[in-house]
Amino acid sequence: MRSYSLIAPAKINLYLEIIGDRPDGYHELAMVLQSISLADQIDIRSIGIDAISVRCNHAEVPNDHTNLAYRAAALLTQEYPEAMAQFGGVEINIKKNIPIAAGLAGGSTDAAAVLVGLDLMWQLGLTQSELEVLGAQIGSDVPFCIQGGTALATGRGEELSPLKNLDNLYVVLAKHRHLGISTIWAYQTYRQQFSQTYISQAQDLETRQRRVHSGPMVSAIMHADGAAIGQLLHNDLEKVALPEHPQVLELREAFESQGVLGTMMSGSGPTVFALTASEAEALRVLEAVKTQIDNPELEFWTAKFVSTGIRLAQS
Ligand code: C5P
Repeated sequence: MRSYSLIAPAKINLYLEIIGDRPDGYHELAMVLQSISLADQIDIRSIGIDAISVRCNHAEVPNDHTNLAYRAAALLTQEYPEAMAQFGGVEINIKKNIPIAAGLAGGSTDAAAVLVGLDLMWQLGLTQSELEVLGAQIGSDVPFCIQGGTALATGRGEELSPLKNLDNLYVVLAKHRHLGISTIWAYQTYRQQFSQTYISQAQDLETRQRRVHSGPMVSAIMHADGAAIGQLLHNDLEKVALPEHPQVLELREAFESQGVLGTMMSGSGPTVFALTASEAEALRVLEAVKTQIDNPELEFWTAKFVSTGIRLAQS
């Protein structure tokens, strides 16, 4: 086929613990990641010339090599030059629904979709784990975005252990339209402020990661216990983002005042999400917080937990 249309879901972090430094300059993490129904649509199409072109309906999304979707296509071209010679170049069209610089892996999931789509279009026959290894070269969240669902992520975030799928929970998300937080800034600031708490011994590191594997959040997920999951939400990066951006804290407090199952900033922020047990409750909370804060800068979404990563759009 000469064209593919893919659905690329956003993710939220139900848990993000920073454990220590890594020799490669990244942080050693223990996270629980969850795919949600808020998603971009990626259309890829063969073009006659040996080139990669990216277009997006969102003005702030770059269309050059800084776009992770572009980098995914460039990586496959580099790894499989004969495929581009045989099938031609590719035009990538991104229909952006996921807010950018938001802590929702919007760029990473677009890159994941390009890897999955080009694997099909160029008939590379890569396995999911081969795609994930390539994805990790583009960004730490890309492997999870390919796989999707609910997963424990360790290492840089690329070592995944799938957990029981949660499909009975809903989420309300809110973000200030013109507020973005750079992931690099969040981790660097965390290192400046908290590196004295970092674990450096390999053995201690493993013990800490095991503690998350067998800990209460994973157990709450295994029991599909939404109330417990809500209580156990955790994100170390809130320690740097909330003091810097009081409007993020304000949102979190507004969600909390609505009696949601739990609320937390996602990833490096600034999106704040709140968990609810039904779609009706998610919509109620959305309207209540919108009225409570009354700021035209605020954007809201509702979404459902989903058990899939990148998938083909139904034609
Ligand atoms: O992997 P990715 O390119 O998405 O990461 C963006 C930045 O976030 C990295 O350059 C690094 O500063 C920080 N990061 C980190 N440790 C991780 C993941 C990301 O320090 N495990």
